[in-house]
Amino acid sequence: MHHKTTIEPFRIKVVEQIRLTTEAERRQFLQHAQYNPFLLHSDEVIIDLLTDSGTSAMSANQWSAIMRGDESYAGARSWLRMESTIRDLTGYPYILPTHQGRAAEHLLYSRIGGPGKVFISNTHFDTTRANVEFSGATAIDIPIEEGKHPEVYHPFKGNLDTGRLEALIERHGAENIGAVILTVTNNSGGGQPVSMANARAISEICKQHGILYILDACRIAENAYFIHQREEGYREKSYREIAHEMFGLADGCIMSAKKDGLVNMGGFLALRDLDLALKCRTVLIITEGYSTYGGLSGRDMEAIAIGLEEVFEPDYLNYRIKSTGYMGEQLRKIGVPLIWPPGGHAIYVDAKAFYPHIPVEEFPGQALACELYLKAGIRCCEIGSVMFGKYDENGKLIPAAMELVRLAIPRRVYTQSHIDYVVETFRELEQETERAHGYRITYEPPFLRHFTARFEPVV
Ligand code: F0G
Repeated sequence: MHHKTTIEPFRIKVVEQIRLTTEAERRQFLQHAQYNPFLLHSDEVIIDLLTDSGTSAMSANQWSAIMRGDESYAGARSWLRMESTIRDLTGYPYILPTHQGRAAEHLLYSRIGGPGKVFISNTHFDTTRANVEFSGATAIDIPIEEGKHPEVYHPFKGNLDTGRLEALIERHGAENIGAVILTVTNNSGGGQPVSMANARAISEICKQHGILYILDACRIAENAYFIHQREEGYREKSYREIAHEMFGLADGCIMSAKKDGLVNMGGFLALRDLDLALKCRTVLIITEGYSTYGGLSGRDMEAIAIGLEEVFEPDYLNYRIKSTGYMGEQLRKIGVPLIWPPGGHAIYVDAKAFYPHIPVEEFPGQALACELYLKAGIRCCEIGSVMFGKYDENGKLIPAAMELVRLAIPRRVYTQSHIDYVVETFRELEQETERAHGYRITYEPPFLRHFTARFEPVV
């Protein structure tokens, strides 16, 4: 029998109550949060699509391993288990545990960054860019051209433009390139996958010039699924083998385990080079914790070791990517403009096209995020000029390349009816687009402003 519906390959054992608020209540909550969904309380939210990070539901297996966590300061059994899982998966010998991805970024980029250094990526995630820039270095994004056009189909829209990479190496000099960072899947570029061919071409260029090559691997299992489906020669390989092959092309990786690690907290830095690992370990011990726990409890390390195995299970990955695709297909069917094809962990709506009457200076993405919340209690995140906008010397906004709203899907948390509710909400918002208005910023910090900025409506 051929099944058309891809079901969630799990049963629900524990539930968490959702408070169903009214639109009037939400209007007050949002005003109180100064029109920044990051400042809402989670009890005020019905469906939380703010992030897929740290929001996974853990399995019964992970929860039972929590009890086995060994909380010894040094050389804990749980650490040895996590370390050997990561070594097997990545092939990298030196593993540094951290409390999350950005802590691993800090360990590495604070050591190899600094003024005069240049980092090149398909797209730096916001914390990656912030860590690079905080060190005094420069971060340059070079996605392929197709990756910049929401409607253009490409099977690997997350690819890095290798022609531009060679030109940048020529211009800046290989000795000034801190690292090439390949983000798989490319989160800020729409959660789009990177092909093995692209990862390999970058590896060859980096080897030829002696440049460090780092994978930002927090969604590498999802990326492996796309390679399996779309790239010639990978149909017979397991998802884990595909990921292992990709790790093998690079000199190391940073991983936020809060994504494909299927845990609520954790991360690591893994490296091939002993000298570099020792340098980073010094920062690890100063800022995170001793080298056999980083910022983690023993129980966290147990859960990570299991999560990194479960995430490669074929039924899980198939459900995961299909359910994200389902949301994308339903929204596209009703005419919502979005990045196509759907990525692995999220759907990215093109807010500039959804609200063409709101100028980028008034943040159409922020407007859509606010409307989704008011209408249905859906929380999501702007990825546009609030997150990436800069100012020129006259204080005029230099907008981001795209004005997107990201609907990120937590792993193993929501069912198809939750997704249908989101689609229904869009159907209603589409009927009343002209009612939406822009926002202006009333407060912003110098780095990562989207987390804490405050807004007021432009009316
Ligand atoms: N790299 C990428 C590609 C990420 O998506 C994130 C986090 C990080 C690094 C940093 O990891 O949060 O554990 O410190 N992304 C989350 C998101 C926050 O919502 O996309 P972290």
